[in-house]
Amino acid sequence: MSVSRVLALATCFAASSLAASVWEWQSRSIYQLLTDRFSLEGGGTTECITDYRKYCGGSYRGIIEKLDYIQDLGFDAIWISPIVANIEGVTVYGEAFHGYWAQDIYSLNPHFGSEEDLLALSNALHERDMYLMVDIVVNHFGPPVNSSTPYASFRPFDKPSHFHPYCIITDYNNQTDVEQCWLGDNKVGLADANTENPFVVKTYYSWIRHLTQKYDIDGLRIDTVKHVRKDFWPAFSTLSGVYTVGEVYHGDTAYVKDYTYVIDGVLDYPTWYQLFPAFQTSTGNLSALAEVVHKAQLTYKTGLFGSGAFSENHDQPRFPSLTSDTARIKNVITFPFIHDGIPILYYGQEQGYTGGNDPYNREALWLSGYVEEGKELVDHVKALNAARKAAIATCPGYLLTPMTFLGVTATTMAVYKHPLLALFTNVGSNGTASWNVQGTEWTPGTELLEVFSCNVVAVDETGTLKATAVGGQPQLYIPASAPINHCSS
Ligand SMILES: *[C@@H]1O[C@H](CO)[C@@H](O)[C@H](O)[C@H]1NC(C)=O
Ligand SMILES: *[C@@H]1O[C@H](CO)[C@@H](O)[C@H](O)[C@H]1NC(C)=O
Ligand SMILES: *[C@@H]1O[C@H](CO)[C@@H](O)[C@H](O)[C@H]1NC(C)=O
Ligand SMILES: *[C@@H]1O[C@H](CO)[C@@H](O)[C@H](O)[C@H]1NC(C)=O
Repeated sequence: MSVSRVLALATCFAASSLAASVWEWQSRSIYQLLTDRFSLEGGGTTECITDYRKYCGGSYRGIIEKLDYIQDLGFDAIWISPIVANIEGVTVYGEAFHGYWAQDIYSLNPHFGSEEDLLALSNALHERDMYLMVDIVVNHFGPPVNSSTPYASFRPFDKPSHFHPYCIITDYNNQTDVEQCWLGDNKVGLADANTENPFVVKTYYSWIRHLTQKYDIDGLRIDTVKHVRKDFWPAFSTLSGVYTVGEVYHGDTAYVKDYTYVIDGVLDYPTWYQLFPAFQTSTGNLSALAEVVHKAQLTYKTGLFGSGAFSENHDQPRFPSLTSDTARIKNVITFPFIHDGIPILYYGQEQGYTGGNDPYNREALWLSGYVEEGKELVDHVKALNAARKAAIATCPGYLLTPMTFLGVTATTMAVYKHPLLALFTNVGSNGTASWNVQGTEWTPGTELLEVFSCNVVAVDETGTLKATAVGGQPQLYIPASAPINHCSS
């Protein structure tokens, strides 16, 4: 459905047009965790020094023990690390604790647990009506050994013809180079699967169909999508039988849009590129953020519906490594939750983790104690999930209502996605800002609940919502009549 068609319809209409699996995901929100770093089975607070890039001991059984925590934050899906067996041993960039260095796609990574453990996780999630998203890598295997038979330990791709000849990617503007040369550097190069080779293609297609069935997987996050030829993906995505969302690491919607035609959705990197700079300082460009969203809405196959909306992930420095201003941090965390895509929170954001670039952004969550009481960002995340759930419950059309920008100034921005209205500012906790929002469907006198403060305000006699920021914090409004339990206690 095109964005203009959606706009032409009244909001709060019944939704129906996206494929079922995408649609089932669209109403959810995802907690992204690194399996090795999220939870130790049986508790424990073993130290985990990110700098070492070594396995720290997190596992599927550990995740199961902490599903209450994730669910309590309001999430109904998790995205876990790649599950297949990786290369063992230490490289100059440490061990394969992240899971992105496959060795054998037919075996599981034993560091994270057994087949039985993964199935137990899948079952435990489904018993709670939560979804399991598994990260997968098709583009490459781990670094091969330097010998006359470099691929002998890989399974099932163990021949030179199964991989592109060695060359490290140097020119990111040359798509052939991007697709056929190797990621990494001359110390650790990642064996680039030859996804033009019929045996490799056939093997991957049947592997993914079986993998999703065997572990009852509900969705796939696909790594390094832009490094594989586009026409590999449609059949792969269809055969998986589940929702597929891909990493196309690029800031330009004109580049990213083509991939929205070959898999179900993309992680919304173009918006991410504008998000941190927009809020990091009071001179950040909020118009540039609005503009990139608008471009994606107009050019992606289903607009931003079905995309993955995020502010942090394991590949980028955390926002609090760039600023310690909690008001700015709250603005950034809020944005994906009023976005047209599926909101994704990276584990540790709720605990205020501050890690910089990889490997520092891969901290162990057990060191936080999973404390919820009195944690400002934990409360903030709970409010975001509660408000979005209430919006969906009140108004099924919410999920196919494109977000619109009702006012963007140098330091403020209003994002409306009926029945939610989010007010943003980049002035920071020492700054002042206010909003006068017009153009909503709310008639004079309508009472609105601001879900972070739990204050109720009324739309004024001209239909304007007037609001003043408290210490640079964002605000989020929903009609006071909406079924939201966040403010009732
Ligand atoms: C592989 O081994 C050969 C012979 O020992 C050596 O000359 C070459 O530099 C090595 N290559 C890498 C990438 O380590
Ligand atoms: C693009 O990259 C490929 C693979 O590395 C190379 O063979 C080709 O010459 C490059 N093309 C241009 C125009 O640089
Ligand atoms: C902010 O971004 C908009 C949209 O990309 C652009 O037109 C404008 O020039 C930018 N403003 C500044 C001050 O850079
Ligand atoms: C706010 O102002 C105070 C006093 O000048 C200063 O100490 C503090 O660092 C400022 N906070 C931020 C987040 O800029």
